Amino acid sequence: MSVAMRGDGAPSEIGGDALVVTAFSGELGAAAAALDRALDGELTAMLTSGEIRGRFGELTVVRATAAIAARRVAVLGLGDRTVLDSYRVHNAYTLGARQLRRRRLTRLVLAVDATLAETAVGDLPALLRAMVTGTLVANHEAGVFKTDDQESAPLIDDVVVAGVDGDARDGVDGALADAVLLAESTLRVQRWVSEPSNSLTPTLLASRAKELCAGTSLTVEVIDRAGLEAAGAGALLGIAQGSDEPPAMIVVRHDGGAHDGPLLALVGKGITFDSGGISIKPALGMETMKGDMGGGAAVLCAVHAIAALEVPCNVVGVVPATENMPGGGALKPGDVIRAMDGTTIEVVNTDAEGRVVLADGLALARRMGATHIVDVATLTGAVIIALGHASAALMSTDSGLTRLVQRAAREAGDRFAELPLHPEYDSCLRSEVADVRNWGGREAATISGGVFIRAFAGGLPWVHLDIAGTAWNEQSSLKDVPSGPSGAPVRTLVWLARLFSRD
Ligand code: BES
Ligand code: ZN
Ligand code: MN
Repeated sequence: MSVAMRGDGAPSEIGGDALVVTAFSGELGAAAAALDRALDGELTAMLTSGEIRGRFGELTVVRATAAIAARRVAVLGLGDRTVLDSYRVHNAYTLGARQLRRRRLTRLVLAVDATLAETAVGDLPALLRAMVTGTLVANHEAGVFKTDDQESAPLIDDVVVAGVDGDARDGVDGALADAVLLAESTLRVQRWVSEPSNSLTPTLLASRAKELCAGTSLTVEVIDRAGLEAAGAGALLGIAQGSDEPPAMIVVRHDGGAHDGPLLALVGKGITFDSGGISIKPALGMETMKGDMGGGAAVLCAVHAIAALEVPCNVVGVVPATENMPGGGALKPGDVIRAMDGTTIEVVNTDAEGRVVLADGLALARRMGATHIVDVATLTGAVIIALGHASAALMSTDSGLTRLVQRAAREAGDRFAELPLHPEYDSCLRSEVADVRNWGGREAATISGGVFIRAFAGGLPWVHLDIAGTAWNEQSSLKDVPSGPSGAPVRTLVWLARLFSRD
């Protein structure tokens, strides 16, 4: 795919399949209004008649006139302009671009409405990133195993951004290069998350990490079963006991900063399939548990992008990967295992496996000298009940690191709502027989997941992101969120490293 900026001249002078302009609830955006004359007032007429309403994600395609170089004009609805942020702009362009692909309009000219940079989007580079990544991630295809694929729409292969004023053009090329890299990373996470567990086992996830990092400045280390035994990683090994597939601890390092500088650890849950283990899940919907390595995929792809951007700081990605299966050797409720840092865990519910493997992930990150930890996991169904698919949950022990993550999310088009870690929640994980138990009952189930993981952060500044709702949007009632895997929060993690390096 090619992405370029053409700043000189009007958007109407650039050829392509479709010139994409915007509308808001009941009003045309600046570029659409400017184009209306060349369209003999057609857009205004359609707005008056109600054919264009400017609703979020609505796409209206009209034939271009001779005064317009592109073949079609596509009006993309952004809804209420006062509530726009990078997340909403990103999603609107994804929803619009999916419709354009289905209409076989794949060479796109995106007209920039610079006034949108003054909304919660923040600035012009953030606006361009949201528009361009949002557009490109519409290329995600789920049906990679179809033998004779007549149905899938052609890919968007050319994007030109147009209509940025001369004086505003500084930094635009950089923003577009960032947008392409972030889109490629997002597409990779989407692909891995939607891949079935028999073609993406822990071993194959580790090979993917190696392939991805080959020829880059990154170092990859994969700790196999024997290595995990030697390291005392009883938590990851315990969950892996029920599966015939060997586990792997995948470690990817970017040494971009000073030798003795801070080390940001990104720890991602890498459960390549979560059957629940002996505490087995119901059959209905269990196939979605192939995506339970979404946190791990985001971490691996983020570290790759961080290296590609040559971000001047030290980052380590740690992904404890295994299946969670109910084989004959599986952990049974009540079993006690010992994590790498010596903490004993009573496994009351084998379906609360994510926090258990993360225990060893965090312990390893600390052993490697992490100074800050961010963990990312599709951890609880409860977070979907609380926040749906439009926001992930964030829990933290450090307001400074939280601020950085939230700023990264704002600039990268993600959403995190902070949940409290009041001391009252601590008691739910007390065990009679071990240091902690892995299940705290049905109440505050997302928070008790955070409370458990915090025990392994060793007092370091730590942020926990529960992405069970945002990594994959099932046909939900929230129509403004594109369906399928989102790739979240890979863009936030990349941006976090950038902000971290400047902090
Ligand atoms: N992988 C699941 C969480 C999940 C649910 C992710 C739905 C994506 C969509 C996790 O391992 C799990 O099973 N969590 C349990 C925790 C409980 C036993 C404390 C849950 O949410 O029911
Ligand atoms: Zn799980
Ligand atoms: Mn589970």
